[in-house]
Amino acid sequence: MATLRSPDGRPPRERPTRAEAIVDLAAIRHNVATLRGYAEGAQLMTVVKADGYGHGIVPVAQAARAAGADWIGAAVLEEALDLRDAGDTGPIFCWLTTPGEPLAEAIAEGIDLSAGAPWEIDELAAGVVDRPARVHLKIDTGMSRGGAVPEEWPALIRAALREQAAGRIEIKGIWSHLANSDEPKSEVNDSQLATFTHAIEVAESFGVEAEFKHLANSGATLALPETHFNLVRPGVATYGLSPFGHSKPAAELGLRPAMTLKARLAMVKRVPAGVGVSYGLTWTAPRPSNLGLIPLGYGDGLPRHASNGAPVQFHDARRSIVGRICMDQCVVNLEDDDVAPGDEVVLFGPGASGEPSVDDWADAARTINYEIVTRLGPRIPRRYVDTAPMTGPASGPGER
Ligand SMILES: Cc1ncc(COP(=O)(O)O)c(C=O)c1O
Repeated sequence: MATLRSPDGRPPRERPTRAEAIVDLAAIRHNVATLRGYAEGAQLMTVVKADGYGHGIVPVAQAARAAGADWIGAAVLEEALDLRDAGDTGPIFCWLTTPGEPLAEAIAEGIDLSAGAPWEIDELAAGVVDRPARVHLKIDTGMSRGGAVPEEWPALIRAALREQAAGRIEIKGIWSHLANSDEPKSEVNDSQLATFTHAIEVAESFGVEAEFKHLANSGATLALPETHFNLVRPGVATYGLSPFGHSKPAAELGLRPAMTLKARLAMVKRVPAGVGVSYGLTWTAPRPSNLGLIPLGYGDGLPRHASNGAPVQFHDARRSIVGRICMDQCVVNLEDDDVAPGDEVVLFGPGASGEPSVDDWADAARTINYEIVTRLGPRIPRRYVDTAPMTGPASGPGER
């Protein structure tokens, strides 16, 4: 039983463990150390956006720092500020802001920010109070998300150099993002790399001296060393998930999945052949069967697209979700298994005990492993375990 926060003066409430996501911090540290090995010679930024891909932003960031992550990467300002509030004093890079967002606090907190247009430089300069904004200039090398397209790159550089000369910003980095690193042989990677390299040359010809150049996400950190420059930004691999799906599973890459999702059956029943299950009665029992009610649904982040087929482990057997996944619950066909209410099922985990993987769930929902873990909602408590507690004092930037 975990503990629920309660208003002042009242004893904490017990939290029922209807379901839980268990996160192994030793696996996170192992993966960070493994990624450091892949990117020897470069600094490592562990990406913890979207609540650490569903694993919990602060515990993941702490584990990553303990394993030697030089940087932490956050998408949005709230995430970066939450990390500072949690006591992380190390380098943090945050890259997604919208016009008018209050940047002053992030600048004052020494958070590195991104700019991909002259107006973003202006906003950063306007947010400066007593220390210059630390800025990474973003070039759009072909993905057409953020960043300056090559034709607009010189204008961005000029705006940045102007504000740097005025003491309002410091140009710390030049960066971009890859569209196809999950297919390492794709020519798109070569083209983006060439555009990035050229953009660095152009910036240097204008007199920019950026300390950090970064382009590589997980796929590129693992498979494209020529994209490493002096800083890499892996996200999904930190959590022990392969960016390459089944074509190169996590174990082959030396990664350990960190999350296990478990639930306790809320109800069990024996149904005769011909009984329909869940909304729309899209599945009908072909023969007498034991059904188990899993108290998790799309309101918790289970993908509804995985209805009728997602795998579950019960004792040592692989069983299937049958019928539609509802908002709060779904049904598993336990066939003739000996089962009682309250028994545990494992939806996914590292696979060491034969349980389904996050990739199996991604296949069932026709999506990617990223989405399965990231979507798990706040109704599922995260419980942190450490299968290999560290004995010595932790080290690394941000550790206190
Ligand atoms: C800018 C940026 N860098 C790095 C990452 C990490 O990517 P991945 O999880 O594929 O390693 C992301 C995530 O999409 C990102 O948006």
